[in-house]
Amino acid sequence: MLKIENLSVSVNEKKIIKDFSIDVKRGELHAIMGPNGSGKSTLSNFLSGREGYQLVHGKVLFKDKNLLDLNIDERARLGLFLAFQYPVELPGVSIVPFLKTAINSKLRSKNLKEIDALEFTKKIKEIASFLNITDEMLKRSVNYEFSGGEKKRYEILQMTLLDPDLSILDETDSGLDIDALKIVSKGVNRVRNKNNSMIVITHYQRLLDYIIPDYVHILVDGKIVKSGNKDLAIELEKKGYESFL
Ligand SMILES: Nc1ncnc2c1ncn2[C@@H]1O[C@H](COP(=O)(O)OP(=O)(O)OP(=O)(O)O)[C@@H](O)[C@H]1O
Ligand SMILES: [Mg+2]
Repeated sequence: MLKIENLSVSVNEKKIIKDFSIDVKRGELHAIMGPNGSGKSTLSNFLSGREGYQLVHGKVLFKDKNLLDLNIDERARLGLFLAFQYPVELPGVSIVPFLKTAINSKLRSKNLKEIDALEFTKKIKEIASFLNITDEMLKRSVNYEFSGGEKKRYEILQMTLLDPDLSILDETDSGLDIDALKIVSKGVNRVRNKNNSMIVITHYQRLLDYIIPDYVHILVDGKIVKSGNKDLAIELEKKGYESFL
């Protein structure tokens, strides 16, 4: 699904991602953990197509296409979804029409029929209720003046509706209370299936009790220093980053 080979990325002339490689196959969930400033968000922002990141060298293949040749819209239409560490507020942009446009644009790009209004309302209400998102919240603008936890739940709503092939979740668990953490995990597990892939960036092993990863990678200074299974996260929790530096 996503194959990154020997990638280096710089921001303002400073190299942040250094010879990074990963192979995320269809049906796999990879967790990336790493200390503050190790480059986790830089990697996800770069993959999303955000401006301000320079490719130094390396290759990124998404569904066998060169991801870096595609613009932001094309990446999304091809099935890439990113939940940002700090979700963007869009005052004045109402959630329901926004999501309807997004989903229809995806359907059109696949030459499929647009979703009808009634069917869409039913679908969004069902997912919202699954994620404990109230009708009142659905009437508001995208992320605008949402609490930290509300933003994270909204991101999962959006992910569930769009049903992406590859989701990258950057600290979707940070700032969540224990009940919200369970709801968000439940939402992620609902979307996860054998045909899609996920990369979950987190600081906390606890999340990985709810979302069981196939692989765990430790990122230090822009590089993967160790990979393993879910036990690596438990080892990390015990020892801290010290022994991996
Ligand atoms: N626009 C920028 N200009 C200068 N430096 C930047 C920029 N964006 C990121 N950096 C630097 O790149 C490094 C990696 O930042 P990044 O946000 O990717 O870390 P992170 O692993 O996501 O950390 P955290 O766990 O705190 O979210 C940091 O030293 C950061 O200051
Ligand atoms: Mg970050």
